[in-house]
Amino acid sequence: MRTLSILIVDDEKSQRELLGGFLQSQGHTVTEAENGEKAVKTVASGHFDLILLDYKMPGMSGLDVLKEVKQINPEIDVVIITAYGTVETAVEALKAGAIDYLTKPIVELDELVILVNRIAERRQLIQENKLLKEDLNKRGVTADKIIYKSGKMAEIINLAGRVATSKASVLIQGESGTGKELLARLIHQLSLRADKPIVIVNCVALHENLLESELFGHEKGAFTGASTRRIGRFEEADGGTIFLDEIGELSPTMQVKLLRFLQEREFQRVGSNVNLQVDVRFISATNRNLERQVAEGSFRDDLFYRLKVVTISLPPLRERKEDIPALIDYFVEKFAKENGKNVKGFTLEARDLLLKYDYPGNIRELENIMERAVVIAREEYITTNDLPFKADFLTEDSDKKPYSALKESLDELEKKLIMEAMEKAQDNQTRAAGILGISERMLRYKLKKYELKG
Ligand SMILES: Nc1ncnc2c1ncn2[C@@H]1O[C@H](COP(=O)(O)OP(=O)(O)OP(=O)(O)O)[C@@H](O)[C@H]1O
Ligand SMILES: [Mg+2]
Repeated sequence: MRTLSILIVDDEKSQRELLGGFLQSQGHTVTEAENGEKAVKTVASGHFDLILLDYKMPGMSGLDVLKEVKQINPEIDVVIITAYGTVETAVEALKAGAIDYLTKPIVELDELVILVNRIAERRQLIQENKLLKEDLNKRGVTADKIIYKSGKMAEIINLAGRVATSKASVLIQGESGTGKELLARLIHQLSLRADKPIVIVNCVALHENLLESELFGHEKGAFTGASTRRIGRFEEADGGTIFLDEIGELSPTMQVKLLRFLQEREFQRVGSNVNLQVDVRFISATNRNLERQVAEGSFRDDLFYRLKVVTISLPPLRERKEDIPALIDYFVEKFAKENGKNVKGFTLEARDLLLKYDYPGNIRELENIMERAVVIAREEYITTNDLPFKADFLTEDSDKKPYSALKESLDELEKKLIMEAMEKAQDNQTRAAGILGISERMLRYKLKKYELKG
């Protein structure tokens, strides 16, 4: 376990000594400060991993210290210690960038140990991930940007880095829009196969017969319409990676064929009996519950075990809300640049709303909301008016309502607005997009989504 350099900030000497002595006994390096001013000075001149910060102190408050410290070094983890245990204090601190909070009096030192260990682990992962990234840069491979702050994602990226260099088949599970494809690409880029292709096959997009020839290729005349020989996707991916998306949709016959290939590493083009061999790494993804499909008998267990030598589960965005602020900043910058707009960010109110929303469509949904907001924004700072949901959906008790209901009613509303705009514009998409204040691209996307005629 990595040890940390910890700063304890508390006006009470006894508290500092209790915590300090204990953390030192656990192998950490401890520095103390008895007020906020001193804490800020100490941080500015030293190196710290973690600050345990008393919320209520005479002079500078814990919240002010937190803000200044984050300015000096955003990488420092800050845990707020509050005597009141009120939710408001804690929430305010978390919003200002604290990683967690503890309530006074800290009698249960167990809780402290668990928290500090968790932070130590997370910092270790982040450090390792940085090294991975540097390694990529050195090899001249540019990985797609995966934005995250949460410990959960840090762990996943770390795991991806460790499995990348092996040939082990990886199964990525996660709800729609959680970044499965992005992760598959990262694994490929981190692997020694990075200079060979990653070939993506979507198992739903193709009819079963076509899928077979798509994967394995076919000889001229193998079936009606096969007028030339075709190289299959497995051959294209030789030396590289094959990414089978939506693997849960694979038909029973294709499951058998794929299993045979995985067992024997040999296949035949459709219409040929010559055995061919290729060297490919398998990554597959699904947003279904494959275990359940196996239990129900719709997915072969022998294939399942071959595919999931390593399983990576991407948590939905609502279970890693710490990632939202970083994602927002990233997308705003990206779409502002793409659209040539001088948008700097969100008003506090809008940001608050974005942090509270549940994102049933995960990061893809957040990304779409960001693109739309940037495109329609009139000011430098995007307001709640530019968001597809309103603050009054999120009042106290509606907080507890299932968000899917909210989502449905919003979808209905959106669909209605789009239909009206299309009617007004006499089906001219450019004009309809103008009326709606969204890009044509976004309009086309929405038309498709709601299955409206375009
Ligand atoms: N951590 C992240 N940082 C930045 N962008 C992300 C992140 N995760 C996902 N995205 C973006 O969100 C979108 C959806 O991601 P992706 O296509 O990888 O999800 P998916 O799980 O494969 O979704 P689906 O199940 O619908 O196919 C993409 O545009 C992707 O670039
Ligand atoms: Mg996908």
